[in-house]
Parts: sequence; C-alpha cells; structure tokens
Amino acid sequence: DKGTYPFYMLKEVDEQPVVMRKIVQEYLNEDGVPVIDQDLLETMKKADRLYIIGAGTSYHAGLVGARMFERLTKVPTQVFISSEFAYEQPIMSERPFFIFLTQSGETADSREVLVNIKKQGWPSLTITNVPKSTLSREASYTLLLHAGPEIAVASTKAYTAQVAVQAVLAKAFGMARNQQEAVDFDLKQQLGIVAVGMQAIVDSKDQLESIASRYLATPRNAFYIGRGIDWSVALESALKLKEISYVQAEGFASGELKHGTIALIESKTPVIGIITQDRTAGLTRSNLQEVVSRGASVLTIVSKHLAQADDTIVLPDVDPLLTPLLSVVPAQLLAYYTSLGKGLDVDKPRNLAKSVTVQ
Ligand code: F6R
Repeated sequence: DKGTYPFYMLKEVDEQPVVMRKIVQEYLNEDGVPVIDQDLLETMKKADRLYIIGAGTSYHAGLVGARMFERLTKVPTQVFISSEFAYEQPIMSERPFFIFLTQSGETADSREVLVNIKKQGWPSLTITNVPKSTLSREASYTLLLHAGPEIAVASTKAYTAQVAVQAVLAKAFGMARNQQEAVDFDLKQQLGIVAVGMQAIVDSKDQLESIASRYLATPRNAFYIGRGIDWSVALESALKLKEISYVQAEGFASGELKHGTIALIESKTPVIGIITQDRTAGLTRSNLQEVVSRGASVLTIVSKHLAQADDTIVLPDVDPLLTPLLSVVPAQLLAYYTSLGKGLDVDKPRNLAKSVTVQ
C-alpha cells in the first residue's frame, strides 16, 4: 500500500533509513559483531577469489561490494554482469566462491550463471529481498535484504540494502580471516550515521525537486561522473535517471571523459560530479572544470568534509566505504522528480518489468 505517497518509488526512497536500522538489528549484535552463519564463513574461507554476479542495479551494488570485500578481507573480488558471465565464463581461479545479488531472486540471466556454476561444483550465496525465491532456493546459502517489498520498477531501497548487507558480510568475512581493518570497522556506528544522513537527504526533497526542474527537465543527455566508488554510484545514478525519466544518461569514470566522450558535452548538458573520496576529489573537480569550459551545467554531490561554497548537494560525512549509501539518495530523488515533472508513470516506466525472467 502506498499510503499517502503518489508513487511507490518515493515511499521506497523514504524507507531507506528504516531499512538501514533493520539491517543493523538483523545482522549486528550489541557489540557490533556480525551475526552470520558460521558455516557460510567457513566455506568462504576456503575461497581464493570472490565472484559477484548481478544484473542492472544489483550489478551496480556489486561494484561497490567488491571494493568493500577487497578492503576488509583482502580476498581478490571480481564483479560480473550475469548475462555476460553466463555465456562467456572467464578463466577461473581454483577455488571460487560466488555471491549472487538479486532483489527479486528470479532474474533469468543470474539464474543461468547459478545453474552453470553449480554443475562445476562451486559454492554460492544469494543475497536477495525475497525469501524462498528461485535463486535463494538454489544457492548454497542465502542472506536476506530485509528491505520489505519493493514495488516500483526502479530499484532504490534494495540497492542500499544490498550495499549494507555486503558491508556486513565483508566485515564478518574479514574478521574470520583475522583482518584488523575488518575488526576496526565500526559498521554498527557507521550505519547509524548513514540512517541519520539518509533522513536528512530525504527531508531535503524541495531542494532536489527544484534542481531537477531547473537542470534535468529539458536536456536530452546527462552525465554522472566520479572515480572509484563514486564511479560505481555514477553508474547507478545514471541508470535511475534514464529508466524513469528517459533522459539519455551515462555514468562515467571522471578521468575517462576526456578520452572521447567529452565531445558530447554541449551548452547546458548536465554533468553531475560525485565527490566523496579524499584521494580523488581534486581530480574529479578538475574534470568538472574541463566540462564547465565547454558550457556544461555542472552540479555536485559532495561529502561535507570536501565541500566548497558553490557545491550543489552536500552529504553528511561517513566512512569512505559507505559513501554510496548516501550519495545515491539525491540521485534517486533527482530521477524521481525529473520523471514526475514530465508527467511520466514513475513506478512503471515503459518497456520495463520488475523482474526479468527472460534471457
Ligand atoms: C533498475 C532495476 C533493474 C534490476 C535488475 C536486476 O532499477 O530494477 O536493473 O536491478 O533487473 O533485478 P534483480 O535484482 O531482481 O535480479
């Protein structure tokens, strides 16, 4: 039931702080130690490499997850689009462990990979929002997202839940591997900060609605750019915008823009820079300068400690690994208000279905 909300998407965006608290409650004990099936962790400890598999938004959540697994566990981690991996399996490590990310648990391309890897005798985990879904039943292990039903076609709270649950698993697995960085990562406290920060962002809807109507209502093209983890969020942000507002949007690695794609920048093309990481902030800012001088309308989504006077959207500070949980929220709302402003059916964009059961 949407209650007083005009669309499910807006309700689901608003639910994200509650979902973060629910994940803390379900997966972290009083001392902030992850509560994760020991058998799952024992199986993961035998792996020499993690393979994360997903489609669409779930693939984008996996890109963030891989950075968390590598930092907290030191186990090499690769992310694949399921429809690619299914038909062209790369050269594998000796002891792979598979993590399937799927909100619905029904995506045919992802299932195809699961069927193939099971034949090869490899263990797997499905992280899903739907208990007893196909990929949950068929994988060796399941972790639930606890996000509550997601109805809008555009995935929002399932994305942030996927990022948060991967953070829990990365901490648990890192601790099982005696990694000090995983022990020291105060995920419980950080997810509390995230929940408060998300609330502040969803409470600033008026600002986001006016930015959407000012900058995104008319252009044909838009770009989100960032480096590292911010690039991963740029990909998801662009997908949100294109799927519900039909603006042709691309998520781009900031440093790659000048190698060709910058030719697409015209007067007033919106370029939205995501800036949350100390190491890359200055570089992304200079990439934004390059597009300003070509007439682009530049907007920024920036962590507070890196913010400057003319930044557009300032995010509360949080651990650098968890910034996607905050930076994606304004992008979700910019997509929402762009779609709404055009009078489109936000929850049911053309040509799309909530769960994609064809290959
Ligand atoms: C985007 C979106 C899709 C799904 C994709 C995978 O907003 O909803 O990109 O993320 O179809 O679906 P699941 O996660 O159910 O496997």
